[in-house]
Amino acid sequence: MRHLPSPSAARAAMGGLRAFALLALCFAAAAAAAKEGKNWCYASQQCRDPSCKEPRLWAELYEECENRKQSPVNILTRQVKYDDSLKPFDFKNYNIKSDRKWIVENNGHTVQVHLDGTEMVERGGLTGKYKAVQFHFHWGSEVGEKLSPGSEHSIDGVRYAMELHIVHIKEEFNNVSSAIQRKGVAVLGFFMTVGKENSNYEPLISKLEVVSAAGKKTEMPALMLGSLIPEKKDLTNFYRYTGSLTTPGCNEEVVWTLFEKPIELDMIQMGKFWKSLHFNSNMTHFMVDNFRPVQPLNSRIVYKSSSNALLPPRNLLLLVPTAAYLAFASIQ
Ligand SMILES: *[C@@H]1O[C@H](CO)[C@@H](O)[C@H](O)[C@H]1NC(C)=O
Ligand SMILES: *[C@@H]1O[C@H](CO)[C@@H](O)[C@H](O)[C@H]1NC(C)=O
Ligand SMILES: [Zn+2]
Repeated sequence: MRHLPSPSAARAAMGGLRAFALLALCFAAAAAAAKEGKNWCYASQQCRDPSCKEPRLWAELYEECENRKQSPVNILTRQVKYDDSLKPFDFKNYNIKSDRKWIVENNGHTVQVHLDGTEMVERGGLTGKYKAVQFHFHWGSEVGEKLSPGSEHSIDGVRYAMELHIVHIKEEFNNVSSAIQRKGVAVLGFFMTVGKENSNYEPLISKLEVVSAAGKKTEMPALMLGSLIPEKKDLTNFYRYTGSLTTPGCNEEVVWTLFEKPIELDMIQMGKFWKSLHFNSNMTHFMVDNFRPVQPLNSRIVYKSSSNALLPPRNLLLLVPTAAYLAFASIQ
């Protein structure tokens, strides 16, 4: 026996249809207007500013965006290759206190903190020393009470709430644009998940309101960079692959590291990102969902460090059942 749909179900279906129609309209208008646009933007932004180009159109502005080693990617854990040469990182000056200042900027795509190269990393399978020049975030949005994830990379198709990128360049370069020409950029990526309140982030989060409009900058006392990421002992497990900048010009040969252990913020702290910041200077459009969708891996291999001290080496894991089997067989 069939039931007639209840009035509320019918209303919900109508609402869905209306939302869909609006979305379709938005995309049609956006596609028409984007032809003349020169600026790149995220998909969440194009609907309000049809003159900009969303990620699928970036290649019209910057050809490299459709090359074969683009980022971000989805990491399939069953296909990673363990690599014993991916030793733990040496983090230099990540935990020094100083009276330096940080410049926090809303650049219209993200909130970015400029660094002066004091913090450095080496080892971790990198060749040479890299200095940290900036960090920034990618985040999602809140739909009703539910969080819509905003990380760029994903693990087995699952995305995290946010992603932190600490951009490093080889010691001998002055800036990202010169380093990128010579394979000199390494990005450390950290997933961020909803968890306990993280008081280390408060001084930074409290500045987000100040840079609410695109183009705004402010100063704050420098924090210990190491206080914004998980403890060193939790940073021995990471993924490594060769990719690109995840924003135009999408330059390739970036050495990517993604740490397995996520950073925790609570929901209120995360909410401050998508409720405080705007994509534009007149603050009509909230900065939400500022991530590039995953790109094809093509023929690349994702490597994983195998420095998990709790596990015996893999060849030993194979030997143990074999020995047990032989012992069992010999008493038959
Ligand atoms: C980057 O550094 C190079 C020198 O290494 C310099 O010529 C160039 O002007 C710098 N670019 C920017 C944007 O600062
Ligand atoms: C706000 O900025 C957007 C572009 O970022 C523009 O399309 C819009 O007209 C502006 N609105 C006002 C009220 O100035
Ligand atoms: Zn980024």
